[in-house]
Amino acid sequence: MLKELSLKNKSIVVTGGAGFIGSHLVDALIKEEPEKIIVVCNFSLGKKENLKEAEENFQNLKIINQSVADYKSVKKIFENEGVDITYNLAVIPLPASLEDPLGSTLENLKMIINVCELLRKGFFKKLINFSSSEAYGTARKVPMNEEHPLNPETPYAASKAGGDLIVDSYFRTFKLPVATLRPFNNYGPRQNAGKFAGIIPLTIKRIMNNENIVINGDGEQTRDFIFVTDTAKAAVEFGKNSNVIGKTINVASGREISINYLIELIKKEFNYKGEVTYGPERPGDVRRHFADISLAKKILGFEPSVKIEDGIKVTCDWYKKNLSKN
Ligand SMILES: NC(=O)c1ccc[n+]([C@@H]2O[C@H](COP(=O)([O-])OP(=O)(O)OC[C@H]3O[C@@H](n4cnc5c(N)ncnc54)[C@H](O)[C@@H]3O)[C@@H](O)[C@H]2O)c1
Repeated sequence: MLKELSLKNKSIVVTGGAGFIGSHLVDALIKEEPEKIIVVCNFSLGKKENLKEAEENFQNLKIINQSVADYKSVKKIFENEGVDITYNLAVIPLPASLEDPLGSTLENLKMIINVCELLRKGFFKKLINFSSSEAYGTARKVPMNEEHPLNPETPYAASKAGGDLIVDSYFRTFKLPVATLRPFNNYGPRQNAGKFAGIIPLTIKRIMNNENIVINGDGEQTRDFIFVTDTAKAAVEFGKNSNVIGKTINVASGREISINYLIELIKKEFNYKGEVTYGPERPGDVRRHFADISLAKKILGFEPSVKIEDGIKVTCDWYKKNLSKN
Protein backbone atom coordinates (compact mmCIF):
# COMPACT_ATOMS: atom_id res chain seq x y z
CA MET A 1 0.00 0.00 0.00
CA LEU A 2 1.39 3.41 -0.93
CA LYS A 3 1.12 5.92 1.86
CA GLU A 4 1.42 9.46 0.56
CA LEU A 5 2.31 12.49 2.62
CA SER A 6 2.36 15.93 1.13
CA LEU A 7 5.47 18.10 0.80
CA LYS A 8 3.24 21.18 0.58
CA ASN A 9 4.33 23.86 3.07
CA LYS A 10 7.27 21.75 4.23
CA SER A 11 10.70 23.18 4.86
CA ILE A 12 13.27 21.09 2.97
CA VAL A 13 17.07 21.05 3.07
CA VAL A 14 19.00 19.71 0.07
CA THR A 15 22.70 19.34 0.83
CA GLY A 16 24.81 19.50 -2.34
CA GLY A 17 21.75 21.08 -3.98
CA ALA A 18 23.84 23.16 -6.40
CA GLY A 19 25.30 19.97 -7.87
CA PHE A 20 24.04 17.82 -10.73
CA ILE A 21 21.32 15.65 -9.15
CA GLY A 22 20.69 18.12 -6.32
CA SER A 23 19.70 20.95 -8.66
CA HIS A 24 17.25 18.70 -10.53
CA LEU A 25 15.85 17.56 -7.19
CA VAL A 26 15.31 21.20 -6.20
CA ASP A 27 13.45 21.78 -9.51
CA ALA A 28 11.24 18.73 -8.84
CA LEU A 29 10.57 19.71 -5.20
CA ILE A 30 9.41 23.19 -6.22
CA LYS A 31 6.44 21.59 -8.00
CA GLU A 32 5.33 20.15 -4.64
CA GLU A 33 4.82 23.70 -3.28
CA PRO A 34 7.01 23.48 -0.18
CA GLU A 35 7.21 26.46 2.17
CA LYS A 36 10.93 26.81 1.50
CA ILE A 37 13.94 24.94 0.13
CA ILE A 38 17.34 25.49 1.68
CA VAL A 39 20.33 24.44 -0.38
CA VAL A 40 23.43 23.87 1.73
CA CYS A 41 26.42 23.49 -0.57
CA ASN A 42 30.09 24.47 -0.40
CA PHE A 43 30.28 24.90 -4.20
CA SER A 44 33.39 22.72 -4.44
CA LEU A 45 31.78 21.28 -7.60
CA GLY A 46 28.27 22.73 -7.51
CA LYS A 47 27.41 25.87 -9.48
CA LYS A 48 25.08 28.76 -8.81
CA GLU A 49 23.86 28.62 -12.44
CA ASN A 50 22.52 25.08 -11.85
CA LEU A 51 19.88 26.75 -9.64
CA LYS A 52 19.03 29.54 -12.07
CA GLU A 53 15.70 28.05 -13.15
CA ALA A 54 14.83 27.21 -9.54
CA GLU A 55 15.53 30.80 -8.45
CA GLU A 56 13.30 32.09 -11.24
CA ASN A 57 10.46 29.69 -10.39
CA PHE A 58 10.47 29.86 -6.61
CA GLN A 59 10.67 32.78 -4.20
CA ASN A 60 11.61 30.82 -1.11
CA LEU A 61 14.83 29.23 -2.26
CA LYS A 62 17.72 29.91 0.12
CA ILE A 63 21.20 29.09 -1.08
CA ILE A 64 23.73 28.82 1.73
CA ASN A 65 27.43 28.43 1.02
CA GLN A 66 28.50 26.10 3.80
CA SER A 67 30.35 22.81 4.24
CA VAL A 68 28.12 20.07 5.65
CA ALA A 69 31.26 18.59 7.20
CA ASP A 70 31.32 21.47 9.73
CA TYR A 71 28.83 20.34 12.38
CA LYS A 72 28.56 23.58 14.38
CA SER A 73 27.89 25.77 11.36
CA VAL A 74 25.36 23.38 9.84
CA LYS A 75 23.59 23.08 13.19
CA LYS A 76 23.14 26.88 13.22
CA ILE A 77 21.42 26.71 9.82
CA PHE A 78 19.01 24.06 11.08
CA GLU A 79 18.35 26.03 14.30
CA ASN A 80 17.49 29.13 12.27
CA GLU A 81 15.42 27.49 9.54
CA GLY A 82 13.08 25.00 11.23
CA VAL A 83 13.50 22.04 8.86
CA ASP A 84 11.11 19.13 8.15
CA ILE A 85 13.00 16.98 5.65
CA THR A 86 16.67 16.71 4.69
CA TYR A 87 18.01 15.17 1.49
CA ASN A 88 21.74 14.51 1.86
CA LEU A 89 23.43 14.66 -1.55
CA ALA A 90 26.64 16.53 -0.75
CA VAL A 91 29.59 14.39 -1.76
CA ILE A 92 33.23 14.35 -2.77
CA PRO A 93 33.10 12.35 -6.02
CA LEU A 94 34.71 9.03 -6.94
CA PRO A 95 37.69 10.32 -8.97
CA ALA A 96 38.70 12.59 -6.06
CA SER A 97 38.93 9.51 -3.84
CA LEU A 98 41.62 8.08 -6.14
CA GLU A 99 43.74 11.22 -5.58
CA ASP A 100 42.93 11.87 -1.91
CA PRO A 101 41.35 8.81 -0.29
CA LEU A 102 41.88 10.08 3.26
CA GLY A 103 40.42 13.56 2.81
CA SER A 104 37.51 12.56 0.58
CA THR A 105 36.30 9.53 2.55
CA LEU A 106 36.53 11.40 5.85
CA GLU A 107 34.53 14.30 4.42
CA ASN A 108 31.80 12.04 3.00
CA LEU A 109 31.47 10.19 6.28
CA LYS A 110 31.49 13.37 8.36
CA MET A 111 28.67 14.84 6.30
CA ILE A 112 26.34 11.87 6.72
CA ILE A 113 27.14 11.49 10.43
CA ASN A 114 26.48 15.22 10.93
CA VAL A 115 23.01 15.06 9.38
CA CYS A 116 22.22 11.86 11.32
CA GLU A 117 23.18 13.65 14.52
CA LEU A 118 21.01 16.66 13.65
CA LEU A 119 18.11 14.28 13.10
CA ARG A 120 18.79 12.49 16.40
CA LYS A 121 18.84 15.85 18.20
CA GLY A 122 15.46 16.78 16.77
CA PHE A 123 16.51 19.50 14.29
CA PHE A 124 14.37 17.91 11.56
CA LYS A 125 11.97 15.02 11.05
CA LYS A 126 13.02 12.81 8.13
CA LEU A 127 16.35 12.06 6.45
CA ILE A 128 16.77 10.83 2.89
CA ASN A 129 20.29 9.55 2.40
CA PHE A 130 21.67 9.43 -1.15
CA SER A 131 23.73 6.28 -1.49
CA SER A 132 25.29 4.94 -4.70
CA SER A 133 25.30 1.71 -6.71
CA GLU A 134 29.07 1.93 -6.25
CA ALA A 135 28.48 0.62 -2.72
CA TYR A 136 27.68 -2.81 -4.27
CA GLY A 137 30.91 -3.03 -6.25
CA THR A 138 30.74 -5.14 -9.39
CA ALA A 139 27.70 -7.42 -9.79
CA ARG A 140 27.99 -10.89 -8.25
CA LYS A 141 24.56 -11.68 -9.70
CA VAL A 142 22.16 -9.74 -11.92
CA PRO A 143 19.83 -8.01 -11.77
CA MET A 144 21.16 -6.55 -8.51
CA ASN A 145 18.55 -6.15 -5.82
CA GLU A 146 19.01 -4.45 -2.45
CA GLU A 147 20.12 -7.77 -0.88
CA HIS A 148 23.22 -7.78 -3.08
CA PRO A 149 26.32 -7.72 -0.83
CA LEU A 150 28.24 -4.47 -0.42
CA ASN A 151 31.71 -4.94 -1.91
CA PRO A 152 32.90 -1.38 -2.57
CA GLU A 153 35.86 -1.25 -4.94
CA THR A 154 37.06 2.34 -4.39
CA PRO A 155 37.51 4.48 -1.27
CA TYR A 156 34.59 6.61 -2.56
CA ALA A 157 32.38 3.53 -2.78
CA ALA A 158 33.47 2.49 0.71
CA SER A 159 32.54 5.93 2.06
CA LYS A 160 29.09 5.60 0.45
CA ALA A 161 28.63 2.07 1.86
CA GLY A 162 29.88 3.29 5.24
CA GLY A 163 27.44 6.18 5.17
CA ASP A 164 24.58 3.78 4.44
CA LEU A 165 25.58 1.56 7.37
CA ILE A 166 25.68 4.59 9.66
CA VAL A 167 22.20 5.61 8.52
CA ASP A 168 20.94 2.04 9.11
CA SER A 169 22.50 2.09 12.58
CA TYR A 170 20.66 5.30 13.47
CA PHE A 171 17.45 3.60 12.36
CA ARG A 172 18.07 0.48 14.44
CA THR A 173 19.51 2.16 17.52
CA PHE A 174 17.49 5.35 17.74
CA LYS A 175 14.40 4.35 15.69
CA LEU A 176 14.75 7.46 13.57
CA PRO A 177 12.89 8.15 10.29
CA VAL A 178 15.63 7.58 7.73
CA ALA A 179 15.57 6.14 4.23
CA THR A 180 18.33 5.36 1.73
CA LEU A 181 17.89 6.01 -1.99
CA ARG A 182 20.53 4.07 -3.93
CA PRO A 183 20.88 5.58 -7.41
CA PHE A 184 22.74 3.87 -10.23
CA ASN A 185 24.62 6.01 -12.80
CA ASN A 186 22.83 9.28 -13.50
CA TYR A 187 23.19 11.35 -16.64
CA GLY A 188 21.59 14.46 -18.09
CA PRO A 189 21.98 18.24 -18.28
CA ARG A 190 24.17 20.00 -15.68
CA GLN A 191 26.44 17.04 -14.91
CA ASN A 192 29.85 18.39 -14.00
CA ALA A 193 32.05 18.64 -17.10
CA GLY A 194 35.08 20.08 -15.30
CA LYS A 195 37.48 18.45 -12.85
CA PHE A 196 36.40 14.88 -11.92
CA ALA A 197 33.89 14.76 -14.82
CA GLY A 198 32.17 11.45 -15.60
CA ILE A 199 32.30 9.58 -18.92
CA ILE A 200 29.35 11.35 -20.61
CA PRO A 201 30.31 15.03 -20.11
CA LEU A 202 33.97 14.11 -20.60
CA THR A 203 33.30 12.45 -23.96
CA ILE A 204 31.05 15.30 -25.11
CA LYS A 205 33.70 17.82 -24.14
CA ARG A 206 36.39 15.90 -26.03
CA ILE A 207 34.23 15.81 -29.17
CA MET A 208 33.42 19.52 -28.88
CA ASN A 209 37.13 20.31 -28.46
CA ASN A 210 38.01 18.21 -31.54
CA GLU A 211 39.88 15.68 -29.42
CA ASN A 212 39.70 11.90 -29.76
CA ILE A 213 37.32 9.91 -27.58
CA VAL A 214 39.08 7.86 -24.91
CA ILE A 215 37.52 4.84 -23.20
CA ASN A 216 39.16 3.42 -20.09
CA GLY A 217 39.34 -0.38 -20.40
CA ASP A 218 37.72 -2.40 -23.20
CA GLY A 219 34.37 -0.56 -23.09
CA GLU A 220 32.49 -3.78 -22.37
CA GLN A 221 31.98 -2.77 -18.73
CA THR A 222 28.28 -2.10 -18.16
CA ARG A 223 26.20 0.42 -16.21
CA ASP A 224 22.52 0.98 -15.53
CA PHE A 225 22.09 4.60 -16.63
CA ILE A 226 19.15 6.61 -15.35
CA PHE A 227 18.11 10.04 -16.62
CA VAL A 228 18.51 12.55 -13.81
CA THR A 229 14.90 13.78 -13.79
CA ASP A 230 13.73 10.20 -13.19
CA THR A 231 15.96 10.07 -10.11
CA ALA A 232 14.61 13.43 -8.95
CA LYS A 233 11.06 12.12 -9.39
CA ALA A 234 11.87 9.05 -7.27
CA ALA A 235 13.49 11.25 -4.62
CA VAL A 236 10.34 13.38 -4.34
CA GLU A 237 8.35 10.16 -3.76
CA PHE A 238 10.85 9.21 -1.03
CA GLY A 239 9.96 12.47 0.71
CA LYS A 240 6.23 11.82 0.49
CA ASN A 241 6.12 8.12 1.25
CA SER A 242 6.35 6.79 4.80
CA ASN A 243 6.87 3.17 3.68
CA VAL A 244 10.48 3.99 2.74
CA ILE A 245 11.50 4.43 6.38
CA GLY A 246 14.28 2.05 7.42
CA LYS A 247 14.72 0.82 3.86
CA THR A 248 17.30 1.04 1.08
CA ILE A 249 15.80 1.23 -2.40
CA ASN A 250 17.53 1.07 -5.80
CA VAL A 251 16.71 3.84 -8.26
CA ALA A 252 17.77 2.94 -11.80
CA SER A 253 16.42 2.25 -15.28
CA GLY A 254 16.53 -1.55 -14.99
CA ARG A 255 18.49 -1.75 -18.27
CA GLU A 256 22.13 -2.71 -18.74
CA ILE A 257 24.20 -0.67 -21.21
CA SER A 258 27.86 -1.17 -22.18
CA ILE A 259 30.15 1.85 -22.30
CA ASN A 260 30.82 1.03 -25.97
CA TYR A 261 27.07 1.30 -26.71
CA LEU A 262 26.85 4.55 -24.73
CA ILE A 263 29.73 6.04 -26.74
CA GLU A 264 28.02 4.98 -29.99
CA LEU A 265 24.93 6.96 -28.93
CA ILE A 266 27.00 10.07 -28.18
CA LYS A 267 28.97 9.73 -31.44
CA LYS A 268 25.70 9.66 -33.37
CA GLU A 269 24.51 12.93 -31.79
CA PHE A 270 27.69 14.71 -32.91
CA ASN A 271 28.18 12.80 -36.16
CA TYR A 272 31.65 12.02 -34.80
CA LYS A 273 33.92 10.29 -37.28
CA GLY A 274 37.17 10.47 -35.30
CA GLU A 275 38.99 7.71 -33.48
CA VAL A 276 38.07 5.95 -30.26
CA THR A 277 41.18 5.19 -28.21
CA TYR A 278 41.16 2.51 -25.53
CA GLY A 279 43.21 3.51 -22.47
CA PRO A 280 44.07 1.65 -19.27
CA GLU A 281 41.25 0.53 -16.98
CA ARG A 282 40.43 2.99 -14.22
CA PRO A 283 41.54 1.62 -10.82
CA GLY A 284 38.60 0.08 -9.00
CA ASP A 285 36.34 0.30 -12.07
CA VAL A 286 33.16 -1.73 -11.65
CA ARG A 287 32.78 -4.36 -14.40
CA ARG A 288 29.04 -4.86 -14.35
CA HIS A 289 25.99 -2.97 -13.00
CA PHE A 290 22.39 -3.86 -13.73
CA ALA A 291 19.70 -2.99 -11.20
CA ASP A 292 16.61 -4.78 -10.02
CA ILE A 293 14.12 -1.94 -9.52
CA SER A 294 11.14 -4.01 -8.38
CA LEU A 295 11.26 -2.61 -4.83
CA ALA A 296 11.09 0.99 -6.11
CA LYS A 297 8.16 -0.01 -8.32
CA LYS A 298 6.37 -1.67 -5.42
CA ILE A 299 6.97 0.92 -2.70
CA LEU A 300 7.14 4.15 -4.69
CA GLY A 301 5.14 3.25 -7.79
CA PHE A 302 8.34 4.24 -9.62
CA GLU A 303 8.64 3.84 -13.39
CA PRO A 304 11.65 5.26 -15.25
CA SER A 305 10.30 7.37 -18.11
CA VAL A 306 13.34 8.30 -20.24
CA LYS A 307 15.02 5.75 -22.54
CA ILE A 308 18.80 6.14 -22.84
CA GLU A 309 18.54 6.73 -26.61
CA ASP A 310 16.26 9.76 -25.94
CA GLY A 311 18.03 10.94 -22.79
CA ILE A 312 21.44 11.04 -24.49
CA LYS A 313 19.99 13.23 -27.23
CA VAL A 314 18.59 15.69 -24.66
CA THR A 315 21.92 15.64 -22.81
CA CYS A 316 24.05 16.23 -25.92
CA ASP A 317 21.72 19.06 -27.04
CA TRP A 318 22.09 20.68 -23.62
CA TYR A 319 25.90 20.54 -23.71
CA LYS A 320 25.93 21.87 -27.30
CA LYS A 321 24.15 24.96 -25.98
CA ASN A 322 25.84 25.29 -22.61
CA LEU A 323 29.39 24.02 -22.75
CA SER A 324 31.99 26.56 -23.71
CA LYS A 325 34.64 25.08 -26.02
CA ASN A 326 37.53 26.00 -23.74
N1 LIG B 1 25.88 11.21 -10.47
C1 LIG B 1 25.70 9.91 -10.34
O1 LIG B 1 25.77 9.16 -11.32
C2 LIG B 1 25.42 9.30 -9.00
C3 LIG B 1 25.18 7.92 -8.93
C4 LIG B 1 24.90 7.34 -7.70
C5 LIG B 1 24.85 8.13 -6.57
N2 LIG B 1 25.10 9.45 -6.64
C6 LIG B 1 25.03 10.23 -5.41
O2 LIG B 1 24.12 11.30 -5.61
C7 LIG B 1 24.54 12.45 -4.86
C8 LIG B 1 24.68 13.65 -5.76
O3 LIG B 1 25.65 13.37 -6.75
P1 LIG B 1 25.94 14.34 -7.97
O4 LIG B 1 26.28 13.50 -9.13
O5 LIG B 1 24.86 15.34 -8.07
O6 LIG B 1 27.28 15.03 -7.50
P2 LIG B 1 27.78 16.55 -7.68
O7 LIG B 1 29.26 16.52 -7.47
O8 LIG B 1 27.25 17.15 -8.91
O9 LIG B 1 27.08 17.25 -6.44
C9 LIG B 1 27.58 17.13 -5.14
C10 LIG B 1 27.52 18.48 -4.50
O10 LIG B 1 28.04 18.38 -3.16
C11 LIG B 1 28.78 19.57 -2.92
N3 LIG B 1 29.72 19.30 -1.82
C12 LIG B 1 30.86 18.59 -1.80
N4 LIG B 1 31.41 18.63 -0.58
C13 LIG B 1 30.59 19.36 0.20
C14 LIG B 1 30.62 19.77 1.55
N5 LIG B 1 31.63 19.43 2.36
N6 LIG B 1 29.61 20.53 2.02
C15 LIG B 1 28.58 20.91 1.21
N7 LIG B 1 28.51 20.57 -0.08
C16 LIG B 1 29.50 19.80 -0.57
C17 LIG B 1 29.45 19.88 -4.24
O11 LIG B 1 29.86 21.22 -4.33
C18 LIG B 1 28.35 19.54 -5.22
O12 LIG B 1 27.52 20.66 -5.45
C19 LIG B 1 25.83 12.04 -4.17
O13 LIG B 1 25.54 11.63 -2.87
C20 LIG B 1 26.32 10.86 -5.00
O14 LIG B 1 27.11 9.97 -4.23
C21 LIG B 1 25.38 10.06 -7.84
